[in-house]
Amino acid sequence: MQTIIVTGGAGYIGSHTIIELLTNTAFNVVSIDNFSNSTTAAYDRIKKITNKNFETLNFDLCNEAELNKQLSGIKSIAGIIHFAAYKSVPESMNDPLAYYHNNLTSLNNLLKFALKNNITNFIFSSSCSVYGNADKLPVTEQTELKKAESPYGHTKQMGEDIIRFVCKAEPSFNVVLLRYFNPVGAHISGQIGEFPLNRPNNLVPIITQTAVGKNSLTVFGNKFDTRDGSCIRDYIHVSDIADAHVKALYYLIDKKNKSNVPVFNLGTGNGVSVLEAIHSFEKVSGKKLDYTIGPPREGDVIAVYADNTLARTELNWQPKYGLDDMMASAWKWQQTLEAGN
Ligand code: UD1
Repeated sequence: MQTIIVTGGAGYIGSHTIIELLTNTAFNVVSIDNFSNSTTAAYDRIKKITNKNFETLNFDLCNEAELNKQLSGIKSIAGIIHFAAYKSVPESMNDPLAYYHNNLTSLNNLLKFALKNNITNFIFSSSCSVYGNADKLPVTEQTELKKAESPYGHTKQMGEDIIRFVCKAEPSFNVVLLRYFNPVGAHISGQIGEFPLNRPNNLVPIITQTAVGKNSLTVFGNKFDTRDGSCIRDYIHVSDIADAHVKALYYLIDKKNKSNVPVFNLGTGNGVSVLEAIHSFEKVSGKKLDYTIGPPREGDVIAVYADNTLARTELNWQPKYGLDDMMASAWKWQQTLEAGN
């Protein structure tokens, strides 16, 4: 049986993607995670939901010798899906070097391992933050990349550049760059979802925690040049993102790619303001949220949403979930956590 290596498999998008791989493919999965922002509970939840087993490895991808040692015994690797990275815009503003070190060293080490072992299929977690404050919305994959607004976004721009040069030097090496917009929500079962170890920085976990009295919500700015003054994002259900990874993997395995470094936007195509997101949550949960308006957050892009035509046509991918589904599933997951399940 062929194996797919998933890095960051105990994390938010990684765990949902392993569920898709175990449910909808015949691949063996080996997950690598050092639990810097996750716990082994995610693995237990995946196993319970899928009723399937998979191998797990605990080490830091920045340690090249360890990486080579741990992965040397794995036979027949059909592809690598690389999620493992730090992902907080505000945290990256406070500690840029941690972001450059972690996100780029791990990528370098993994690319070296792939090339050395003739693993030709690789999927990279990129982000819409690579667009910066774009001149024109929605952004297509051809939209010029502006200066990154945060070190987080910059590591994704640099990661894409590194990969492009590697693919130029090694024409048989194929990498799909997936630019996620704002992944939110939780698995439809409500048994797994986003589980940040520390106080979350992302909007939706803060919303659901506020609804149960465990956090407080501040809207970062309401004077932007947008329809209600708050920032605009393209929220996309995490299971739709997970599904896109399986499609991207087969796209490479079936050799459907037209270049060896194709790039796809993964968003719904709908721009949603922070206030609209809050109202959607209030509607589906029946809970009124107490929030305050605060100053803009450093490093934030004002507005971005996707033109997703390319992913729809090339990957045959279609987002299944709307904003209310995203909020309802995130709420269901928060209730699972509250119930101690
Ligand atoms: C960024 C990336 C996204 C990536 C994510 C990973 C951009 C445009 N997007 O998301 O691709 O997947 O990092 O973490 O760079 N907000 C509040 N109050 C809060 C928290 C957030 O108003 O307490 C607002 C933010 O200002 C922003 C929106 O909610 O407008 C979403 O913020 P967040 O969930 O943190 O994600 P991004 O930083 O947009």
